[in-house]
Amino acid sequence: MGYDEVYGAWKADPEAFWMEAAKAIDWVEMPSRALNDSKAPLYEWFTDGKVNACYNALDRHVENGQAEQVAVIYDSPITGTKAKFTYAEMRDKVALFAGALAAKGVAKGDRVIIYMPMVPEALVAMLACARIGAVHSVVFGGFAANELAVRIDDATPKAIIAASCGLEPGRVVDYKPLLDGAIELAKHKPEFCVIFQRQEKPAALIAGRDVDWNAAQEGVSPAECVPVEGSHPAYILYTSGTTGAPKGVVRPTGGHLVALNWTMKNVYNVDPGDVFWAASDVGWVVGHSYICYGPLIHGNTTIVFEGKPVGTPDAGTFWRVISEHNVRSFFTAPTAFRAIKRDDPKGELIKDYDISCLNILYLAGERADPDTIHWAQRTLGVPVIDHWWQTEIGYPAVCNPVGIELLPVKVGSPSVALPGFDIRVLDEGGKEMKRGELGAIVIKLPLPPGTLPTLWNAEARFRKSYLTTFPGYYETGDAGMIDEDGYLYIMARTDDVINVAGHRLSTGAMEEVLASHEDVAECAVIGVSDELKGQLPLGFLCLNKGCNRPHDEIVREVVKLVREKIGPVAAFKLAVVVDRLPKTRSGKILRATMVKIADNQDYKMPATIDDPAILDEIRLALQPLGYAKG
Ligand code: COA
Ligand code: AMP
Repeated sequence: MGYDEVYGAWKADPEAFWMEAAKAIDWVEMPSRALNDSKAPLYEWFTDGKVNACYNALDRHVENGQAEQVAVIYDSPITGTKAKFTYAEMRDKVALFAGALAAKGVAKGDRVIIYMPMVPEALVAMLACARIGAVHSVVFGGFAANELAVRIDDATPKAIIAASCGLEPGRVVDYKPLLDGAIELAKHKPEFCVIFQRQEKPAALIAGRDVDWNAAQEGVSPAECVPVEGSHPAYILYTSGTTGAPKGVVRPTGGHLVALNWTMKNVYNVDPGDVFWAASDVGWVVGHSYICYGPLIHGNTTIVFEGKPVGTPDAGTFWRVISEHNVRSFFTAPTAFRAIKRDDPKGELIKDYDISCLNILYLAGERADPDTIHWAQRTLGVPVIDHWWQTEIGYPAVCNPVGIELLPVKVGSPSVALPGFDIRVLDEGGKEMKRGELGAIVIKLPLPPGTLPTLWNAEARFRKSYLTTFPGYYETGDAGMIDEDGYLYIMARTDDVINVAGHRLSTGAMEEVLASHEDVAECAVIGVSDELKGQLPLGFLCLNKGCNRPHDEIVREVVKLVREKIGPVAAFKLAVVVDRLPKTRSGKILRATMVKIADNQDYKMPATIDDPAILDEIRLALQPLGYAKG
């Protein structure tokens, strides 16, 4: 069957389509039906099934003759370490660690926060939670203590599993003091913490609260897999929204297993036994879906890569990993390729490796610019597939369905909607736009299995953020268009979310931090274009009357403040002091116009602007930073 037939089959009978896909999962009790619309417009999938995610990711492969196949490859150029773990070894490690958690009282439904770098133990921790039905919430290592504290208070975990440190090029990131600081800041206190001591920098443990990773497992029995309902949350993953409070995206177990398994062949075109590599981080959705769960559920070999595309040790690292581990499908963010291209413009380093094993490169997380796509096509000599999805969705919604049929690639478009997704483009009033016209990208409800059913402890926010603007549809927050051939084009966000090096960040959260500085009366943060990272945050500060302090000193302080409060991942390094901000007569800050000025794009003078002269002041303020020069 080609793409049209497969998409058509889903559209004609979604229930049958997903029940068929569900057969690839080992259920303790097969669900009687796929969709549960009893609480529409909130939907669940496979509600009455019973299943265990860890069993599907590990045990079943051990039982089905893949025990000695490598499940996880750890490749860490930053520490000079490599290791391989078979399915049997992973199952045993996970069962024992799950036993340790269970022995300390962690049970089905309890939340566990995981704050770990790219080490195999991060996967062990995630799968151990899944084994006993605990709900994990992984927090990215580049977030600071305050962000961790916000997540602790929202998820109220019984336990936190952390590493003593992470490693960034040229510096050790001490996780333990960040963890201690976060627990200090949070109102909710975990009952205990398990600390994985890395030899690069072990941490001092707090007696009575912290247990060492190895010590916790001494004398415990391995845990069995606990069956959970199809709708049971597998995990919570926090992502940026418009305000400073992150959104806790809930991932339901049954749908997550069915959908991820389906994508491994149909999207990523790998068969069980093939090596699949997503160069991302377990702290992001890509890490959840395609470093941990997807490849393992499908019986692939996955790679935990602890390094960067450049500088660990050079821009040839990706090619080494691909060739050494026989990678068949590779997934990363366009920014990684821009970094490689900058260091090795002619792709000379590729010549040192045989990467003929590689069939396809997949890009996602941010807009894939045509230059980067062309460069990747030229240097790798394989199809370069841009695809679109979001944390909320959990897996690709729009992609060239390579495993079904390789459709013509249109550079600039992530291609077509996958089965499960009825994507439309609407105007502000909810009317469907004509082909080729720009509008809000929405998905007709119900969303397919594995997508978010709600936000953790925040159903009202879920409804307001996603279901209210366009009744009957899920609002993606992206704007774009669909062309005559049904190809989607993503043009911009419709909210205050920006995308920095493939990392989704909230300008609202940064504004909250800037506003907390004692000399700042008012502020705005926008995302300006950046050749390497796609976008960079840039802050405008209006100071309190009478503040005579040097501006560069205040700028330095707010840069430091954002790093302390949100974390280095915010990459907030640019700020300027201005007298006033451009606003509409009703007081709304004209951020979109400021972005256009900074990026030298044409803009229409907003009809409702309070005082047009302010735009010139903004232009002048931006020029010393290298923006608005056009
Ligand atoms: N723990 C602690 N700090 C971290 C971190 C982590 N896990 N990840 C990033 N940081 C820090 C970095 O050290 C850097 O700190 P600095 O300001 O002291 O230099 C800061 O956060 C910004 O990091 P990053 O945006 O990664 O920039 P970079 O300059 O270090 O690297 C790239 C640039 C392009 C090489 C890098 O962004 C990259 O590899 N991007 C790919 C992103 C990706 O895979 N995204 C996944 C989505 S699919
Ligand atoms: P995240 O939730 O971190 O995965 O970020 C999701 C957002 O990243 C989307 O809503 C888009 O704004 C952007 N994004 C992801 N993939 C793409 C893509 N292929 N092209 C353009 N933007 C993308």
